[in-house]
Parts: sequence; C-alpha cells; structure tokens
Amino acid sequence: MSPEARDAAEPRVVLSAAQIDEIVARLAAAMSARYVDGAVLIGVLRGSVPFLADLVRAMTVPVSVDFMAITPYTPNSGRVRLLKDLDLDIAGRDAVIVEDIVDTGLSTAFLRSELQRRRPRSVAVCTLLDRRVRRVVPVDIDFAGAEVADTYVIGFGLDHEGRYRNLRLIAAADVEVLAADPDAYVEVLYGSNRRSEQGAS
Ligand code: IMP
Repeated sequence: MSPEARDAAEPRVVLSAAQIDEIVARLAAAMSARYVDGAVLIGVLRGSVPFLADLVRAMTVPVSVDFMAITPYTPNSGRVRLLKDLDLDIAGRDAVIVEDIVDTGLSTAFLRSELQRRRPRSVAVCTLLDRRVRRVVPVDIDFAGAEVADTYVIGFGLDHEGRYRNLRLIAAADVEVLAADPDAYVEVLYGSNRRSEQGAS
C-alpha cells in the first residue's frame, strides 16, 4: 500500500474492546432482570454473531438461541426477504431480536412483524449500535448499546465485503477508501487488535 493510501486508511476507534465489554455487561444485566424465566434470543446473521455470543454468556438466566437471515433492503429490491427462518417455535415465549446495528430500521421492522405473526408472548429488540440519524421506519429499541453517527463502521460483527467481522473493536471507516481497496484497513486494524490482545494479557 502507498503511504498516501495508508494515511487515508487511518481508522477512528468508535468503541474499544473494553467499551464493548461494558455495554454487553449492562445489556445482559438488563435482559436478565427482565426475563427471569428465560427468553429466546434471535441473532440476525451474520453481523450479530460476536455480540450475541458475548451477550448470552453474560446473561444469568436460561436462554435459547436461534438465528434468522434476511436479504438486505436495496432500492432495487424494494423489500426485505427471509433467507433463513427460525428452527425454534416461539409461540408463547419471550423473543428478543439481536442486531449488530439498527440503521434504516427496515430489517428490524421486517423481522419484528415476521416474528409477531408467530404469537410469541413478547418481541423485543436488542442492538449493539443505533444509528438513529439514518432511520427510515420507526423502530422501538428495548435494549440499546451505543448510538453512532452517520459514518460507516466495521468490526465486532460489522463487515465490509465479509472482512473485519472478527475485530474486537469497532472503527469508523471511509467508504471511498474501502471501495478502492476492501483490505485497506486490514494492516492497521489487525495490528491494533493484536496490540489490544497483548495489552489485555
Ligand atoms: P438496516 O436495515 O438499514 O437497519 O440495517 C441492516 C443491516 O445493515 C445491519 O444489520 C448491518 O448488517 C448492515 N449495516 C448497516 N450499517 C452498517 C455499517 O455501518 N457497517 C456494516 N454494516 C452495516
């Protein structure tokens, strides 16, 4: 990578690994208090996986885990479609949709109405990140981690073309830099990942 490209690919840390841990602990405590009889946590593939994995392990009540996958909304498709359905029956149970980020809200609104039809006792939404400035449809969020500004973010489940999901932190990335080179942030972000691992040990 040229020195100019490396400068352009200077990411800004939005949430450090320690800040994510604090958010997970807070949300897990709130959810454990709300669902003393347990709940079904429904991860939206694939971005919610690291968050869901940490969340369920920090919860102190019995939970079941299932997954759904949907096609993202695009102006061309005009709608969201279900790609993978639940395996569990949620009728009469408390269900929680677990998202990496609620952005336009179109995915979450679709999932909530889809789940509501299955007659659960309740459906709630838990998201690590909330980008309210981009909301297109209103979404009630029951458990919210952190609000983020209108910048593209990567890490801790959030990807760009499948990359960066396994970072322990979340960083703001320049979409033009990523469009030119999807790997533009690999060197600097995985370097900082290694450094934070070393710092933690
Ligand atoms: P929404 O339907 O617009 O609310 O967003 C749905 C999905 O878009 C999220 O669950 C993410 O997987 C993805 N997404 C939205 N914003 C970002 C981002 O900044 N980085 C990576 N993925 C994103």
